[in-house]
Amino acid sequence: MAAAADTTTYDENSEYVDPDWTVVLPRKSRKCQSKVSRTEKEVKEQSFAPPDLEINQERESKLMQKIESSLKKLESSKFFDLFLSQIEDPEVFNCFSRVLGSEPNMNMVVYGIGSIESFEAPRLQLCLVILMKRKFEWVGNIEVFDPVLSGTETRVLESFGCSVISVNEEGRRQALKPTLFFMPHCEALLYHNLLEVNWNVDMLRNMALFGNSFESYEHHNSVVKDYIASPYTKRILASRSFAKEFRVKTGPDDHNRAFYESSWLFFNPNDEHEVPII
Ligand SMILES: C[S@@+](CC[C@H](N)C(=O)[O-])C[C@H]1O[C@@H](n2cnc3c(N)ncnc32)[C@H](O)[C@@H]1O
Repeated sequence: MAAAADTTTYDENSEYVDPDWTVVLPRKSRKCQSKVSRTEKEVKEQSFAPPDLEINQERESKLMQKIESSLKKLESSKFFDLFLSQIEDPEVFNCFSRVLGSEPNMNMVVYGIGSIESFEAPRLQLCLVILMKRKFEWVGNIEVFDPVLSGTETRVLESFGCSVISVNEEGRRQALKPTLFFMPHCEALLYHNLLEVNWNVDMLRNMALFGNSFESYEHHNSVVKDYIASPYTKRILASRSFAKEFRVKTGPDDHNRAFYESSWLFFNPNDEHEVPII
């Protein structure tokens, strides 16, 4: 989702409200019904239970076939050519090399992929992850989390070499070593959480991020009249002073839906004075 189309909802105090966590009381006591959003503490270590635990072999093999066909489609697309040449472009490649440092590879953490069984955009996004792993030896293990993933989808992800994270980290993975975060079209809140937990020179430098364009957040914030910014864009905007952003080129084919308004982002503050206290 592009910055402008962020569907995150907020309550009257501008707090994020996740519809899944709205407490719905029985009909009798509806009068007392109140929306309850998660506190930070509740969110932190919340165990993940897939919404649909069933592992259905027929659905599994259908999904495997769909992914195989998306892989072929994506690999032979103009978009993928552009994508590879952008990564191999010296300016972008230098950023990946800087993040890697002396490490041979960086693991990938994929948040917010969406339902790979129900929609083509998440399938194409997953295929991009798989193709990156096949093309670049510096891509290490792949871990995936989205609260919507079903048992069947989890099995399929595992058969493509990904492991599914069992706890909802709410995007708060610390980059203690070089890490590639793949977060296509996520809500501002997830980028905010990721930045917040890594808000120091060393961890910021350990991150490469594929996600919504931060430049777009800034643009909407400063230029678009009547734009109501998410309260979670503060850190996104603050990171702009030490971030390097490269827009992912989508081209005129039908992969636009999956990759529009996406960017590669790298954070390279010179020292702690460049990382503002928020
Ligand atoms: C706007 S959708 C994007 C889906 C897909 N990537 C696309 O481009 O169509 C945002 C996704 O973030 C997921 N999400 C919400 N909270 C999350 C969390 N704590 N960790 C990982 N993913 C989360 C949602 O379930 C949803 O699938």
